[in-house]
Amino acid sequence: MCGIIGYVGPRDAESVVIDGLRRMEYRGYDSAGIAVVTDGQLALRKKSGKLSNLVAELEERPLPSSHTGVGHTRWATHGAPTDDNAHPHTGADGRVALVHNGIIENFAALRAELEADGVVFASETDSEVAAQLLGREVARGASLVEGMRVICNRLEGAFTLVAVDAQAPDRLVAARRNSPLVVGVGENETFVASDVAAFIEFTREAVEMGQDQIVEVTPSGYEVTDFDGNPGESKPFHVDWDLSAAEKGGYDWFMRKEIYEQPRAVADTLLGRLSDDGELVLDEIRISADDLRRVNKIIIVACGTAHYAGLVAKYAIEHWTRVACEVEIASEFRYRDPIITSESLVVTISQSGETADTLMAIRHARVQGARVIAICNTNGATIPRESDAVIYTHAGPEIGVASTKGFLTQVAACYLLGLYLAQVRGTKFGDEIAAVLDELNGMPAKIQQVLDNTQQVLDLAARLKDRTSMLFLGRHVGYPVALEGALKLKEISYLHAEGFPAGELKHGPIALVDDGIPVFVIVPPQGRDQLHDKVVSNIQEVRARGAKTVVLVEEGDHEVEPYSDEIIRLPKASTLLQPLLATVPLQLFACELATLLGHDVDQPRNLAKSVTVE
Ligand code: G6P
Repeated sequence: MCGIIGYVGPRDAESVVIDGLRRMEYRGYDSAGIAVVTDGQLALRKKSGKLSNLVAELEERPLPSSHTGVGHTRWATHGAPTDDNAHPHTGADGRVALVHNGIIENFAALRAELEADGVVFASETDSEVAAQLLGREVARGASLVEGMRVICNRLEGAFTLVAVDAQAPDRLVAARRNSPLVVGVGENETFVASDVAAFIEFTREAVEMGQDQIVEVTPSGYEVTDFDGNPGESKPFHVDWDLSAAEKGGYDWFMRKEIYEQPRAVADTLLGRLSDDGELVLDEIRISADDLRRVNKIIIVACGTAHYAGLVAKYAIEHWTRVACEVEIASEFRYRDPIITSESLVVTISQSGETADTLMAIRHARVQGARVIAICNTNGATIPRESDAVIYTHAGPEIGVASTKGFLTQVAACYLLGLYLAQVRGTKFGDEIAAVLDELNGMPAKIQQVLDNTQQVLDLAARLKDRTSMLFLGRHVGYPVALEGALKLKEISYLHAEGFPAGELKHGPIALVDDGIPVFVIVPPQGRDQLHDKVVSNIQEVRARGAKTVVLVEEGDHEVEPYSDEIIRLPKASTLLQPLLATVPLQLFACELATLLGHDVDQPRNLAKSVTVE
């Protein structure tokens, strides 16, 4: 996600800011910018692409020397990664500059209000709304911190904001709701940043900002208040990580960090999807409602983990829309001469948006007249560009090669798509859609609950690390979860792992069960799912043949206890949404086991994050 750094102190602000941005490059970004304050004036430079483009621009058009500055690396969400959309953004009179990380959910209404007030926008971003609002408050006589309070009370969504005022040098004001922000406290100098990696070279004394807080920083210190100006509490801490650990937020691997980011990533994926009149909206729709109503077949194409997200989606989409939904491995799709018409809807899922097999599949589908909806994590990538509609997953950059938050956010986006199609086609009543959305919005807290109770999974990995083969079983949406659990383990631990539909066990895979083989089983909700008892029987079948059963089951289900060697409890959820919870312990199990085996978890052998060849 975006990286933010702000600096006030005796050093040259430009070099502190650029160094800080460089140290946050690992977060992923597609444009960068800087603003400094000198002699009552703002000076700004912004460039799309890599930081080196911004540095080249600074060489060509040097900034005046300054001791107050903000910088930003942008991971595009609203608006393509262009120079104009890069941060910082300024208010109408060019007096304040602001950078933003997050998503401002109510930006459309605020933008309309500002435009009615005569403001002309210079970008397509949601972020500029915050800059323009702040500029208006400051022009009306508010100080920077007073202006920040006003706008924070008007913004909805997730935001970290950092602003400078040309007429108030040696001062930065920052605000935080949901997106991260830390203050770095040096000697006669102060930093604000998205993470400590940005300033670790200069100070290891940091302060963690709380939710809904504003901080005003000067070279001599910082003052924290809430959005109404009341004194706020903040948590000072000493950073004892080295730089590479700091980039990973103190985690040993990006993969582990990304597993722990999932509550936020799923929440961001769900954010801002309802219009004022309670209707679901997608990011970019270039398909008419009439065309969506004419669809008579849905085909999901994707690769790897994204394909498994598609397998989960099939159950939800067919259930909610009553339209037949096929799921295809993208590399197989076009070579079997699939039956596609102008009434087919192709849904493509890709974290990177650049996977060659997937891209070729959608090109083929479009030539045959199908409409294509992309579910993608990378704004402006080729696959969303070549699709008729896009739902962005807003997971932030995924760096670990084995996809984790990519999967969960893809599943969440697929649910949104299923509900959207049900809304357009009228196959679910509005209140039924609202009830599912309600449950979906409660899922990030439940994912957090799973992540708060992981010691058992870590211990299990330690106990099973010498096994050479493991099986994963599930039925219905539990089946793709089993496939994903096995894939995670294969990818990073290099163990033999297979996922099977539990009902298929007796038709072959049960021959693999021998004494002591670990078998993970995902159990559907008890009493609310017709398959529950059948899965319990499947557990008995493998246990009777010597398997060690690791059973993932919801709280309160005691029926499995006699047949389980290990029980991993999950918060309650409806069958269709259970994959958002059941996948998480399996990801962590694989991560921990590969760590214990001494493998490079983030860059497993032979694998690439984005496969751009067929
Ligand atoms: C590669 C990665 C997988 C990923 C797959 C699809 O094989 O190693 O983790 O699931 O590509 O990637 P995409 O970017 O299209 O989701």
